[in-house]
Amino acid sequence: MMLLNDHRILFGSALALFLFLTFYIAIIPAMENQKINNPLPRQAKVLTNAERAGKMVYIENGCVACHTQQVRSVEMDNVFGKRPSIAADFAINRRTDFWRNTANLMGTQRAGPDLTSVGERQPSAEWHLIHLFQPRAAIEASIMPSYEFLFIERDYLQPGDVEVKVPQKFLKNKGKKIVATQKALLLVAYLKSLKQTDYTDKSIVPDFLYKQAKKDQSGAPGGENLPNGGELFTANCASCHQANGEGVPGAFPPLKGSPVATGGDLQLYVTIIMKGYDPRPEFATMPPVGTNANFTAEDVTAIINHERTSWGNNAKKVTLDEIKVIMEKIK
Ligand code: HEC
Ligand code: HEC
Repeated sequence: MMLLNDHRILFGSALALFLFLTFYIAIIPAMENQKINNPLPRQAKVLTNAERAGKMVYIENGCVACHTQQVRSVEMDNVFGKRPSIAADFAINRRTDFWRNTANLMGTQRAGPDLTSVGERQPSAEWHLIHLFQPRAAIEASIMPSYEFLFIERDYLQPGDVEVKVPQKFLKNKGKKIVATQKALLLVAYLKSLKQTDYTDKSIVPDFLYKQAKKDQSGAPGGENLPNGGELFTANCASCHQANGEGVPGAFPPLKGSPVATGGDLQLYVTIIMKGYDPRPEFATMPPVGTNANFTAEDVTAIINHERTSWGNNAKKVTLDEIKVIMEKIK
């Protein structure tokens, strides 16, 4: 029983076994993993310096406590990305620094929506700034904390200031101007950079599990087989124009009673939806929501009809054919 009698041999063999297992089970597979999980061919570009600095602001403020950045392979996650996340999505990330490995902010808690593709879903920097300053100004019943300390109050704007058009009722000191700090701008640059890489090779990217049967919409009014305008409005327009159609004063105009939404200039209406809109300085900028979301003429018709008949609006419904002609014309 030499092994048990000589403490050096006993300790030495335990150490050798420990080191062998560490390499065999942890270190070698980890290196192998990095080799086989190459970034996807069309992987989103590496973050710019500003976006990387914004990521640090994201980490600093603990956003990961409530937000994930991983689309699970279940159909209900379809709203957060076009496909489930796979290992290759995270392969491009490097350690933050020697001490910290916060490169992947996959998160575990989803008190708020997943942010994998929030840059796609919400490309408007103005919206992000208002929302960070006071989430309740953008989403009425939001439970997200306000990040007011990323903004400063000023009596007068100075050159280079990025003003955030927050409605007066959310300001502690009425009449002051709210200006975004560098940190807020970097954070928004990071949020806008979050876009899921488009990749559909089915041999690599699996389909969502537990697919739900699509609802039968053949009973839609007019027999035109239109999608549900209310759902499309909620998913694409309500974050700015609000579920009640009243918008946010000083930032996003109301669609309730809007001359465009209820009026006869359909070409302007469709152009606004597809290409965005920014004629008035007192409001923020509307991004090309329809183009970003690949709206079809059916989608646009359904949304317009929803808006023309909701919140007390009472305008004549439009037909699919009318919208098709306009969509063709403004292409
Ligand atoms: C206490 C939990 C919590 C924390 C912490 C938190 N959020 Fe949120 N966040 C939410 C909730 C809930 C929502 C959904 C309601 C809303 O949009 O305000 C949300 C929504 C969002 C959205 C809009 C997502 C979408 O799909 O429209 C963005 C962007 C966002 N948060 C960014 C951040 C950033 C950046 C931070 C850190 C500075 C942060 N959040 C911290 C809970 C949180
Ligand atoms: C990121 C925020 C945002 C989103 C999302 C958004 N809009 Fe807008 N929308 C705006 C802003 C800001 C304006 C006003 C621009 C201006 O006047 O300078 C506007 C203006 C409009 C107008 C003109 C209203 C009027 O009376 O002048 C219509 C109609 C409209 N949007 C429809 C839509 C529809 C439909 C959707 C969804 C498909 C949508 N918007 C999504 C921000 C947004």
